[in-house]
Amino acid sequence: MDAIKIKDKQFTLSITEETIQAAVKRVGEAINKDLADKDPIFICVLNGAFMFAGDLMKTVNIPCEITFIKLSSYVGTYSTGKVHEVMGLNESVVGRNVVVVEDIVDTGITMEKIIASLKAKGAADIKVATFLQKPDALKRDIAVDYVAIKIPNEFIVGYGLDYDGYGRNLKDIYTVVD
Ligand code: IMP
Ligand code: MG
Repeated sequence: MDAIKIKDKQFTLSITEETIQAAVKRVGEAINKDLADKDPIFICVLNGAFMFAGDLMKTVNIPCEITFIKLSSYVGTYSTGKVHEVMGLNESVVGRNVVVVEDIVDTGITMEKIIASLKAKGAADIKVATFLQKPDALKRDIAVDYVAIKIPNEFIVGYGLDYDGYGRNLKDIYTVVD
């Protein structure tokens, strides 16, 4: 299935499941090496990162915790720039090595807000693991420690990422056709 339609938009297959799985595995292996004795707490940013986090954590084999927060900033295909916390953090991160697990770093506004909030809550070290990054869209000076795949500045769906709530269940990535 190379072409799909979601609501009013056409999308075409751009990254296959095979490429995705290999890239996610590489991130997990790097994390295993870097954080082996750090007792990290992974914070999966819902909704978009649920599939990435699920696959990533199958490769991560070091002692660790995983928890979830929920944010929303997108309406349709455009970032509103305003990030809302829909579900906050229950666990203490004081003195902890934290790994934020995101679906995509686009402008970086969401990640900047998450990092500031974790610093304020007393995290000792904060690393960022993102499935995708759009380097050309970055508007904030944030350090991204692990990137599975870098993509051009185009709207995509699949593997957790949505267009107006749809497309998150696709196992490949599709790019909008305009
Ligand atoms: P940022 O704050 O601009 O970095 O945007 C971060 C959030 O926007 C991500 O966590 C995604 O949920 C969403 N997002 C950014 N680009 C896309 C895209 O191409 N498709 C679907 N969602 C996206
Ligand atoms: Mg997201």
